[in-house]
Amino acid sequence: MADDGFTLDDRLPADHVTTTLHADVREGLGRAPRSLSPKWFYDERGSDLFERITRLPEYYLTRAEQEILVRRAPEIAALTRATTLIELGSGSSRKTRLLLDALTAAGTLRRYAPLDVSVPALEAAGAAIHRDYPGLAVSATVADFESELVLPEDPGPRLLAFLGSTVGNFDEPQRHAFFRSLSRALSGDDVLLLGADLVKEPEVLVRAYDDAAGVTAEFNRNVLRVLNRELGADFDPDRFDHVALWNPEFERVEMRLRSRATQTVKIPDLDLTLELAAGEDLRTELSCKFRRDALTAELERGGLTVRRWWTDPAGRFALLLAVPT
Ligand code: SAH
Ligand code: AVI
Repeated sequence: MADDGFTLDDRLPADHVTTTLHADVREGLGRAPRSLSPKWFYDERGSDLFERITRLPEYYLTRAEQEILVRRAPEIAALTRATTLIELGSGSSRKTRLLLDALTAAGTLRRYAPLDVSVPALEAAGAAIHRDYPGLAVSATVADFESELVLPEDPGPRLLAFLGSTVGNFDEPQRHAFFRSLSRALSGDDVLLLGADLVKEPEVLVRAYDDAAGVTAEFNRNVLRVLNRELGADFDPDRFDHVALWNPEFERVEMRLRSRATQTVKIPDLDLTLELAAGEDLRTELSCKFRRDALTAELERGGLTVRRWWTDPAGRFALLLAVPT
């Protein structure tokens, strides 16, 4: 077996915060409507809050995808015969264990290569998987999947998983660029496994992003704490309301932070002062919801052909296999 232990390779540029965060925040908060990239949610606290979200009664996405994986993981293992499982935005890798179990039972898997922007999430998940799957090499990478994708060069077939409907956090032009870069990075017998949340009643969707216990609200406000810590900003998270709304035109849930009052916020590291009006929104996340035909066509335009499409029994969530066209 190819066990060379657990490695963690930090590929984020040394100036990730000073360059990327600074540019993102300056650009996003400087224009109307103001917005922030969701990747800044995931410091240690943000990753923990996301894990709590996945266990909330209202947040059906994780359970629905898990139901599909329970049922289909052996078939995915048989169809792909993957030797390497690469996972983008792996987080806690909790659902991934279903794939690891099926692929190790099939006897093909040699390496698990999770990639995430969150160091604490990768450290915890990587160490636990290394402990629980003896003989499996675990090669974690800290990187931003929106910049150029560098996939492990292992002999294939490689299975590239992108679960949880994280693809929905991209808008359509971002998805197009992302699918193109995936189709270029995948070769021969490599396969993409993509999780996508489906369009459904707006009430169900909005509830999933505005839970009764207020965990999603804390997750949303956490991005302000990150900006305070990293940029010396003086956001008072309690002066912002958590808002989740359904945008029917783009079929997406939008998370926003709404200023409760007229307020001034200073971001010294950017030499920036924000004058926020009462009721003004900072858009912090898009969560696009999908329909089968449109997503299949989008993937096709990006150079990927859908080979299998499965949903949970209630039809809430889809998991698909696609190959480079
Ligand atoms: N796949 C897991 C976690 C989803 S949460 C699941 O299905 O439950 C989204 C994950 O993507 C987080 O772990 C976050 O740290 C990571 N992430 C978000 N933006 C990222 C980016 N630009 N590059 C790499 N990882 C990112
Ligand atoms: C990671 N991503 C797919 C989650 C989502 O559903 O858009 C993040 C999240 N935001 C609020 N709740 C969960």
